[in-house]
Amino acid sequence: MNKIGIIGGGVMGAGVAQSFAQYKFKVILVDISNDILQKTKGEITRNIKLYKLCNSKENLDDIDIILSRIEFTTDYNELKDCSIIVENASENFDIKKEIYRRIDTICNENSIFLANTSCISITKIASLTERPDKVIGAHFMNPVPMKKTIEVIKGYYTSESTIEETKKIAFKIEKRCILVNDLPGFVSNRISHLFMNEAAYVVQDQVGTPEQVDDIFRDCYGHKMGPLETADLIGLDTVVKSLDVLYESYRDPKFRCCPLLRKMVDAKLYGRKTGKGFYKYNIY
Ligand code: NAI
Repeated sequence: MNKIGIIGGGVMGAGVAQSFAQYKFKVILVDISNDILQKTKGEITRNIKLYKLCNSKENLDDIDIILSRIEFTTDYNELKDCSIIVENASENFDIKKEIYRRIDTICNENSIFLANTSCISITKIASLTERPDKVIGAHFMNPVPMKKTIEVIKGYYTSESTIEETKKIAFKIEKRCILVNDLPGFVSNRISHLFMNEAAYVVQDQVGTPEQVDDIFRDCYGHKMGPLETADLIGLDTVVKSLDVLYESYRDPKFRCCPLLRKMVDAKLYGRKTGKGFYKYNIY
């Protein structure tokens, strides 16, 4: 069975680690501090409980068994035997730059790197390594264990065998891949971030409240979630960073970040992960 390396234990890294561990993979999860890793472990524990409640018909292992498959560490060298790395660090190119240079020297030359980025070009990420053919975008959806589809992005040099390996590993955790080409934001976020950003402008301009905006998207358009509750789920900090990547990449004013979003991030109103964004949440 492949050993999976997961980098970043935030919203996405926790979800990706949980998904692989639930399907019996051995997982090495790396983040920058033990405090963060402790929080990640708590988050994964709560999310497995929730998953079990929502999927009671699935024959899932006990929580302790699932957790025992995940090694939580700050040591990048633990990734050396992983055939697949899924990188989920913060949406910041400078942070990712350091990480890819590091794993490129640590990991076996055959290991493939799946970049779970919201918006950063996969070709640009791949250029940080000596193995651009083995770098691919794997934009998992949030919450990862519940979502059955991955937007997979082919960078300029991504090889067919890397695409096949990615599809195979996704199949093993019962996820379907939709393969698209590489430009910043890909399909999903190039479109969805326009919705979320403009929804924030609508609130800033007092045209409607967050509840009204989301109600219109749910009830009139039949979306499962409105743009502002989606932004809260993603994390407003990540939404702002993603909008900045889109703006810098295309130099198109349509991606200019709404000042209200930036102000909320400055006030640490990140959404679900800090307990308050456009809405309030219970945090543990
Ligand atoms: P987050 O802010 O919740 O977590 C990021 C994690 O990366 C933090 O735990 C941080 O400590 C860690 N990190 C930072 N530098 C690191 C380093 N050098 N080595 C190891 N870990 C490091 O962010 P989130 O939401 O999990 O996003 C992660 C990536 O996934 C981003 O690129 C984001 O754009 C992308 N993404 C986010 C989605 C979402 O709904 N939040 C959906 C799909 C992709």
